Amino acid sequence: MDKLLRLIFTKLDSKKWVNCGERTPNSVSCVHCQQSQYYNGNKISYSCVEKRKIYALRYLPVHEAENRSALRKLPDDVVQELLNYNNIRVLSLGGGPGSDLYAVLKYLSESVRDGYRHKVSMTRIDIEPLWDKMAGVVVEDAAAGCDFEIVNKVIHADVMAGLDSVKGKEYDLVICSYLISELSGVNFKELGGRLKKIMWKGGVLMINDRPQDEVDNNIREIFEGAEIELEEASNNGHANYYFDQDIVDKVGPKFYMGSNFFLGVNK
Ligand SMILES: C[S@@+](CC[C@H](N)C(=O)[O-])C[C@H]1O[C@@H](n2cnc3c(N)ncnc32)[C@H](O)[C@@H]1O
Repeated sequence: MDKLLRLIFTKLDSKKWVNCGERTPNSVSCVHCQQSQYYNGNKISYSCVEKRKIYALRYLPVHEAENRSALRKLPDDVVQELLNYNNIRVLSLGGGPGSDLYAVLKYLSESVRDGYRHKVSMTRIDIEPLWDKMAGVVVEDAAAGCDFEIVNKVIHADVMAGLDSVKGKEYDLVICSYLISELSGVNFKELGGRLKKIMWKGGVLMINDRPQDEVDNNIREIFEGAEIELEEASNNGHANYYFDQDIVDKVGPKFYMGSNFFLGVNK
């Protein structure tokens, strides 16, 4: 990940701010604009290229660590069952730069014991097509250290419509990181019902997000709608990623995990 973050860092464009027409109100710099979009009812959007780069630099390692740490809580028999499939089908909801898929690949790779070269088919549903290029590079970076045959697909859509467009039972692992906190006006039980329709028996649902009562309750509703019994826990502690000092100074990345995650198996 070091080379990847260095590449993104070298592409930061300090001139973008001067004439930027999409600043978060009252923000004073690109970094501040990216951070302050989450507060005071500001509009959240990833259409700005600087925002996407800063998002990745600030959160990619820590969100990857949170997702991987959550997946490690799966019982071993569940992951070994997933690894029995010829083709492990993974669906990411609101994957953005691909932090969740990075974690999935690393987690599956560390769980393989049969020496077999597995195929992993990954689909991202994301409303923002402008993430595609970065997500492609991030998945490539993760895949470089894993012995998988990888197939990548993307559905550019709102999550509800995207799930509707999936026909039949398709997925063995559905992962969703920091999307639920960005959704409004959604019927979360209905979202769970749609997930139920596209998950195989034995498939895993994992949702990771910021620790906030309303978000927790919405996630519980999703599991209820999906009729999946859930376990929940928190991620804390250092993400064990150490940034170069110039990246720390410029974008103030997050070092510590701080999320709640919810995990269950579709029986
Ligand atoms: C906070 S980012 C999370 C990115 C990544 N999963 C992570 O953990 O860092 C939220 C992502 O959800 C996407 N998104 C927001 N609203 C969405 C919606 N209604 N349907 C699908 N994707 C959405 C955004 O484009 C963005 O990629």
